[in-house]
Amino acid sequence: MGQLEKVKELIELRAKARLGGGEKRIEAQHAKGKYTARERLAILLDEGSFEEFDMFVEHRSTNFGMDKQKFLGDGVVTGCGTIEGRLVYVFAQDFTVIGGSLSETMALKICKVMDMAMKVGAPVIGINDSGGARIQEGVNALAGYSEIFQRNILASGVIPQISGIFGPCAGGAVYSPALTDFVLMTEGTSYMFLTGPKVVKTVTGEDVTQEELGGASVHTTKSGVAHFSVANEDDGLSLIRHLYSFLPQNNMEEAPRKECTDPIARMEDLLNEIIPDNPNKPYDMFEVIGAVVDNGEFLEVHGNYAKNIIIGFARMNGQSVGIVANQPKYLAGVLDINASRKAARFVRFCDAFNIPLVTLVDVPGFLPGTGQEYGGVITHGAKLLYAYGEATVPKVTVTLRKSYGGSHIVMSCKQLRGDINYAWPTAEIAVMGADGAAEVLYAKEIKESENPAEALAAKKAEYNKLFCNPFNAARYGYIDDVIEPRNTRFRVIRALEQLRTKKQVNPSKKHDNLPL
Ligand code: HXC
Repeated sequence: MGQLEKVKELIELRAKARLGGGEKRIEAQHAKGKYTARERLAILLDEGSFEEFDMFVEHRSTNFGMDKQKFLGDGVVTGCGTIEGRLVYVFAQDFTVIGGSLSETMALKICKVMDMAMKVGAPVIGINDSGGARIQEGVNALAGYSEIFQRNILASGVIPQISGIFGPCAGGAVYSPALTDFVLMTEGTSYMFLTGPKVVKTVTGEDVTQEELGGASVHTTKSGVAHFSVANEDDGLSLIRHLYSFLPQNNMEEAPRKECTDPIARMEDLLNEIIPDNPNKPYDMFEVIGAVVDNGEFLEVHGNYAKNIIIGFARMNGQSVGIVANQPKYLAGVLDINASRKAARFVRFCDAFNIPLVTLVDVPGFLPGTGQEYGGVITHGAKLLYAYGEATVPKVTVTLRKSYGGSHIVMSCKQLRGDINYAWPTAEIAVMGADGAAEVLYAKEIKESENPAEALAAKKAEYNKLFCNPFNAARYGYIDDVIEPRNTRFRVIRALEQLRTKKQVNPSKKHDNLPL
């Protein structure tokens, strides 16, 4: 065979590999409203940037006639490319090839991109669409999963890892996404569960559909397993690109700075009037975030889960920041088990990847009751406390209104190494609210007085005057300054600029033992 024929053969082989499981299966994939693996990568990556690895890999199994069922690439498309010019490693399972099921060789391909990503220091984005372990391969498929999980673990905190779930993801296969930093699911076409509806029915007798058991809405609202749900794959892929724009390549780098077109000293008069006179009335923390960050642009993470706390990414003077904020509009912004877990993981992610934290506080306390105590709110609340306390990235805290008791401490207080702690004049930093305090301190006196209601009101007023303000904390230096609310954007940006060269190191240890 001459050189030209050899080149022709290569071109033909490539074309064959690009067809995956063949045209019929591609049509079936499209009929489900799904893209193929290659189409997904073409949308995810900058045009023409994809460099594919291992296009000619085939599985090695001979069981159940598998030697006659071979496909070039073996059910996963892997390689690297760029997003807005920045390098990422990718893999996308190809459902058209034996249901995207994971073989020994597919696992080797995925491990290769993960190893490359670690060597080079670039993120891994995985698109999952698979029937799980390739049944014909038995333990080799299980070993393959384990190899992937091990790499997920070692890469955690070193390179960002993002999982898109664009189809089935079941059995132990769900653990790879669960080990990554962000999980995104498509509505109606993806699901994640450890055991499917049939096994559930056999074991517990429960009748449940795939969607009810592990659809996107379940995992973004109830379980918290997934951070984002999207209406379709296009939205999902563009969301991954957007998310990545806030992240650095690895734990030794900083997130890319964008040119800031929003004046840093922009005053927002609405902030001087946003806190209602009645302390029990809510307002929308999203309005505050929008008024403070660059161009009002905020990428909320975990938006449908534990809405009493808001987390997400924004930029301040072009610098990527992680925002953590209580939401008075939802359950009065109280901290509970889910809110603590949600925020703690986010704080740890930001800390691992050098993204400064801006915390906006309006928290009445931890949610009381047996439901929370039996569920282990002590341990879960401690996670958030721990996450803030161990974080060494710049931390700027602004207390808007309530900041009581344990929740005051947890929400990035000065003693948990908050770097710059501001308060608005409306801040109330105290052990507890006036209602509770007056009743605990003066129960007997109030009961015995001629007019208990009046006596209670008087004691509350006394307590309010003494404690429910920012100046008591400021007097001790627990608050660095009391600031005019409309000036918050400028003050936070200036604090972050001041902290740019911050260096803080935790004691050396094998690893920590945070309360899991
Ligand atoms: C081998 C598989 C497969 C698998 C699907 N296929 N899953 N082949 N191993 N795990 C094949 C099908 O035989 C079929 O081949 C093709 O992929 C497409 O599958 P369909 O069933 O036609 O598609 P659909 O109707 O959309 O159903 C998708 C599905 C279903 C719901 C995912 O295929 C399914 O239930 N698969 C089995 C899921 C499962 O139990 N996996 C093992 C989990 S245990 P043809 O040639 O007909 O097109 C596990 C352990 C991991 O994963 C542990 C890790 C620690």
